[in-house]
Amino acid sequence: KKKLTRFDLQAMKDEGKRAVWMTAYDYVTAQLAEEAGMDMLLVGDSLGMAVYGYSGTVPVTMDQCLYHCEAVRRAAPNTFVIGDMPFGSYQAGTEEACRNAIRFHKEAGVDCIKLEGGVRVASVIRAICDGGMLVMGHVGLTPQSSGALGGFRAQGRTADSARAIIDDARAVYNSGAFSLLVEGVPPEVTKIIRDELPIPVYGIGAGDCDGQVMICSDILGLFQAFTPKFVKRYGDVAGEYRKVFAAYIDEVRRGVFPSDEHVYRMVEGEAAKLTA
Ligand code: KIV
Ligand code: NA
Repeated sequence: KKKLTRFDLQAMKDEGKRAVWMTAYDYVTAQLAEEAGMDMLLVGDSLGMAVYGYSGTVPVTMDQCLYHCEAVRRAAPNTFVIGDMPFGSYQAGTEEACRNAIRFHKEAGVDCIKLEGGVRVASVIRAICDGGMLVMGHVGLTPQSSGALGGFRAQGRTADSARAIIDDARAVYNSGAFSLLVEGVPPEVTKIIRDELPIPVYGIGAGDCDGQVMICSDILGLFQAFTPKFVKRYGDVAGEYRKVFAAYIDEVRRGVFPSDEHVYRMVEGEAAKLTA
């Protein structure tokens, strides 16, 4: 498997081939995702919920994102890896944003970074692109600003708010981003953006797009706290975990595990010397 480039991703859009990607935060998951042929992996700041148990993404730090990016990078050397810039790493000015984007590349070896917002982050996107890095935009439901949005709710359901999202998408493109993620908006809005922008437009909860992303613990049926409307569960891994944990607890308590096949044998004749 060869790692995709921005030009491969652009060609996929131009040829009408949808890119499939998901989040990954750890080595085992990323390895299996690469083996399955996932086109891209996002080390999302959703790790705040999926890994650390926060109620949102706002507390997530640069260090947390970098640690998980490193693990995913090692596990999936031939997959396009996106580092998600956490809240606070690009809001305080373009210089700090650039320094943090650089850390994602130098310390974690990502292929691009993603950040949230449109018009209000245009100069930040421009500055990071000017540094020779690839930026993926993210508009619509932007979880890092859930306070300003009044919670985790669909965006662009009225014409006025839809127009604002379309303006954001334009700003992302005009600032040099190579692709855009649209989250939590009606498909009518997504279609306008997708028809207008020449770059790949990916979606989560945004209908048909040039590709889809999902949070891995959601499609696995592993994450228990809540399930957004736009999630489809492709399995019940939480159910598998429960079965495994229950069986293990039961066997240890009954003295069934460990059995003979799970122990090391002493070298021939050595056991006798111990008691001699
Ligand atoms: O952090 C994340 O998982 C995201 C999703 C919207 C894909 O940004
Ligand atoms: Na994110």
